[in-house]
Amino acid sequence: MRHLLGLYGVSADDIRAILDEANRFLSALQQSPPQTFNTLSGKTIALCFFENSTRTRISFDLAARRLGASTVNFTALTSSLQKGETLLDTIANLEAMNLDAFVIRHSDSGAAHVVAKRSKLPVINAGDGAHEHPTQALLDMLTLRNTFGSLSGLRVLIMGDILHSRVARSNIFGLRTMGAHVSLCAPPTLLPANIDEFGVTLYTNLERAVQSCDAAIVLRLQLERETAGFIPSLREYTRFFSLTEEVLSKRDKKLFVLHPGPMNREVEISSAVADSRQSLILEQVTSGVAVRMAVLQTLLAN
Ligand code: NCD
Repeated sequence: MRHLLGLYGVSADDIRAILDEANRFLSALQQSPPQTFNTLSGKTIALCFFENSTRTRISFDLAARRLGASTVNFTALTSSLQKGETLLDTIANLEAMNLDAFVIRHSDSGAAHVVAKRSKLPVINAGDGAHEHPTQALLDMLTLRNTFGSLSGLRVLIMGDILHSRVARSNIFGLRTMGAHVSLCAPPTLLPANIDEFGVTLYTNLERAVQSCDAAIVLRLQLERETAGFIPSLREYTRFFSLTEEVLSKRDKKLFVLHPGPMNREVEISSAVADSRQSLILEQVTSGVAVRMAVLQTLLAN
């Protein structure tokens, strides 16, 4: 593996190897103080965030440092992008400063692929448009595997704004490769047109959808991507597609709940569910550092 651009086409063996390595890092991080490593000492990783981020950026930064690497941070808002510099010129200039890898987040689908084609360095996609967000799906899979013991045969519901979600796409590819069954629940207007090709079960009724899964990944309604035009009103969306205690009360078994963050509380998920004992949301964040350590280690350690 030279780059990590997406989970489409990545083998079960490669995913398993990253998750196993991540679990070794997870145990090391849970020691007090967290055990650190020097396997990437002397390396510098450029964190290029052309789009906002809290969890992904900080966890990549921490992951690099915990492996002994240093990081440089590029933020679109304070860069020469504001003066019209292109993505590829920006990357070429950073590369001329002798870095070792790029972590890229961009609002355009395919941005990380474009950089990987032009650059000699390993590229990790930290989210490109509505395309893929592989490390998020890997951390979701690690959290699920550690909760349930195995991904094979696990029934995972992904619900909400599937259309705009790179998290949904990467999870569909990764989870299906690992033998999980994936179902989706969303208003038809928030599903991609070619959803039939994804090998998933579709629901439009949330109560029915939650009856037949072991865990649910709730997605943020991406209001910044003009989602408003895709739903009649926020109130109606919340009425039919919000994961609330009332919806969960229709099940007799507990449902584990994940959310990649940032959450719109009381829109796609109620606070009562987000903060409940069945919520794995903060476990996901902890898994995120370990997964990113495993990815950096896999791509960069000799
Ligand atoms: C997601 C993203 O940016 O793709 N967040 C994340 O990385 N944790 C999901 C989102 O923005 O809704």
